[in-house]
Amino acid sequence: MGKPRILVVDDSKFSAKMIESRLMASGFQVDVAFSAEEAMAKLSAPDAVFPDLVISDVVMPGLDGYQFCRWLRQNPATIHTPVIMLTSRGGVSAKVDGFQAGADDYLVKPVDPTELEMRIKVLLARMKAVQSAAEQTGVASPAKVISVFSLRGGVGVTSVAVNLAVALAQLAQDDVPLLDLALESGHCALMLDLRPKHSLADLGDRGADVIDDALVEGAFVRHDSGVCVLPAPPAPELADKITPTLVDTILDMLRPKYRYIVVDTPSRFDEVTLTALDQSDVIVLLLTPEIAGLKVTTAALDVFQALEYPPQKTVAVLNWPFAQGGLPQKNIEAALHMPLTAVIPHERVAFVEAINRGVPLVIGQPQTPAAQVLQQLAQQLSGRLSPKRVAKSVR
Ligand SMILES: Nc1ncnc2c1ncn2[C@@H]1O[C@H](COP(=O)(O)OP(=O)(O)OP(=O)(O)O)[C@@H](O)[C@H]1O
Ligand SMILES: [Mg+2]
Repeated sequence: MGKPRILVVDDSKFSAKMIESRLMASGFQVDVAFSAEEAMAKLSAPDAVFPDLVISDVVMPGLDGYQFCRWLRQNPATIHTPVIMLTSRGGVSAKVDGFQAGADDYLVKPVDPTELEMRIKVLLARMKAVQSAAEQTGVASPAKVISVFSLRGGVGVTSVAVNLAVALAQLAQDDVPLLDLALESGHCALMLDLRPKHSLADLGDRGADVIDDALVEGAFVRHDSGVCVLPAPPAPELADKITPTLVDTILDMLRPKYRYIVVDTPSRFDEVTLTALDQSDVIVLLLTPEIAGLKVTTAALDVFQALEYPPQKTVAVLNWPFAQGGLPQKNIEAALHMPLTAVIPHERVAFVEAINRGVPLVIGQPQTPAAQVLQQLAQQLSGRLSPKRVAKSVR
């Protein structure tokens, strides 16, 4: 393992350089940014290298240390990165604000260099212990449930769900259940060129109180990639057989046995969809760069807030199903009050070809920019693998 990498954010060049030289002498790699904005730009660059720990000043022109810390906590790539606030602002209320923004430690300047070094080492050691415990437990820890959702139809939800499931199965070298909850028009199986014999309707016929995991897995149709689709009913009129309790039961049964479960959803908040979203660890909220897309996305975020979902549960992903004329990325982020975790570029023919051939983009055309963004998104969401970069492209 190389030297731990530390990002120092401080508007005072003198202070930043002092910390930098001290930490370098102690064997750390150090990056310096002189404002929160500069640090955010570095971490959002396509070739970003993520730090193992961040030391941030609080009072800075532009965004302050609290806002920067909240941004780090919303960004899947830095959600768990230890943050030390190092500031001249003393007092209990300033510290409380720091911890509420997501800081792990709060030190008031002037700080003894040896104490700073010790605190860094403690946080890095704790992070390492958490990571290796997570790696050792592997399958024993319950599956991460990832739902892909939009309140607007036709924006690419199923395409993203299928590609994410395939990419996660490849990363984990393990089977990944894919629940098709677009109950009236599900087409996950079709996108994988699979012909299901069973569907969720069969499990609905049995009833939530009768099914067991063998029956649930018996309804899977397995793709060579390891994705196991639990298909939507073959006809729209069978959708009513799938109850919220059934979905709850299925997820409870599958969670202990897999690393990841991906859920494709319809573009509305019905009881079944809400059950899946409640059970999800991550909601990939997909949107397109247009006013109507933005409006339904803010409406969905309002619902998530009313349901008291933690902010870090939702990641916003922008998809370009059309070629041009969309809103600029920065306007979208400003309207959503959150960064975009990924931007899936328009692929003129690759997506349609992938659907027609039943071969997902990440398998059939992995070199396309969209497939690469989907791969990176899967890496970030997997949480087990340290992401090397936040997928972002500015149009
Ligand atoms: N980035 C993209 N570039 C080009 N075409 C895309 C892109 N994303 C999605 N599409 C196309 O958009 C169409 C809708 O995709 P998909 O079926 O995945 O959306 P959906 O949100 O699941 O739709 P529905 O609401 O009908 O379930 C498909 O033809 C797909 O090929
Ligand atoms: Mg769909």
